[in-house]
Amino acid sequence: MRFSDTLKLTFKKALVTGGAGFIGSNLVDAILENGINVSVIDNLSTGHLSNLSKVMDRIAFIEGDIQDADILNDISKGCDVIFHQAAVVSVPQTVEHPVESSMVNDIGTLRVLEAARKNGIKRVVMASSCAVYGDDPGLPKKETMPVKPLSPYAVQKLTGEYNAKLYTDLYGIETVCLRYFNVYGPRQDPSSPYSGVISIFMKKAIERKAPFIYGDGNQYRDFVFVRDVVKANLKAAVAEKAAGRVFNIGTGQAIRVNDLWEMIRALAETDVTPEYKEPRKGDIKESKADISLAKSLLRFEPSFPFETGIKETFRWYQNSQIYGD
Ligand code: NAD
Ligand code: UD1
Repeated sequence: MRFSDTLKLTFKKALVTGGAGFIGSNLVDAILENGINVSVIDNLSTGHLSNLSKVMDRIAFIEGDIQDADILNDISKGCDVIFHQAAVVSVPQTVEHPVESSMVNDIGTLRVLEAARKNGIKRVVMASSCAVYGDDPGLPKKETMPVKPLSPYAVQKLTGEYNAKLYTDLYGIETVCLRYFNVYGPRQDPSSPYSGVISIFMKKAIERKAPFIYGDGNQYRDFVFVRDVVKANLKAAVAEKAAGRVFNIGTGQAIRVNDLWEMIRALAETDVTPEYKEPRKGDIKESKADISLAKSLLRFEPSFPFETGIKETFRWYQNSQIYGD
């Protein structure tokens, strides 16, 4: 994705933590396409080297852990921006392992901020999550609404936001936190039962197997295409009034789970019918972002209507060796 927007990408070298993952690797591609040098640190816990195979000869890649201060200090030297994507991303895993996940999501994030401080890095853009809103019924979600973290994952993301703000206020590092809503697109790994619903439905449709729909399927989500999330990151790296702030990154549109399966089923030209199951415990009924703050301060405007993003994603799953096979 060439960044041909009103904002210019003024930085010359970037570090992407978690750059072998779904969002991180799409971000690496986009940064390279704009002629900017990229380094990546990833411990490959959920990421895949295959996500970087086409660009490996053009990046500096280190297989390492963000908890390791020495490696982080080394690889971030000379960078102008860090895009911090690395995390334990599975909510159930953080519930199962609150301490271990905190080491990565809390301490690891502090290590990233600290490397930025030591190396005088201008800006850190951090991946947060709409999970911080919890099950508060207020809709659409605005950044000014109360937070209600309901899992270690959500607490850890919120802690990251607070630490980011501290690093801006105390040390002058420009930090920007992006609360992603439900991200989908090429390279999302469908192999776990807790993977994003779109990746699971894609795999099921291609294999012509019945998907599970939890509850009546009328629940809805704000699904945002990964390349729009990448664009939001690039904008957040250069926008003038963004430092020390938190932004929702979604589309403002809602898609019901039933309609989602119907669209994917039609793309796959299958008439497989879903199997309805009990609602998931703690499942949020409705989630949708108010993105007016990102629109005004980041000049973020999603470019991919859902119909376009879902077709591109389907093509990718059709042509790929799907992870976990
Ligand atoms: P992902 O699992 O594909 O990417 C995470 C990457 O971080 C992986 O490559 C993994 O190997 C790496 N990693 C994990 N622990 C590490 C460690 N200790 N040291 C170095 N690398 C490590 O997941 P993703 O969906 O691309 O998520 C990227 C970011 O976006 C995460 O911070 C996640 O919490 C956030 N997020 C994602 C979504 C979504 O819908 N996918 C929604 C909200 C927030
Ligand atoms: C997402 C995040 C989660 C975060 C939460 C905050 C992902 C993978 N998860 O959860 O980390 O805490 O937002 O709001 O991004 N569904 C089915 N069948 C399936 C899988 C899912 O019907 O096989 C339904 C779920 O019950 C849910 C919807 O699809 O209603 C979306 O599920 P999912 O993709 O797991 O995301 P969230 O539950 O929104």
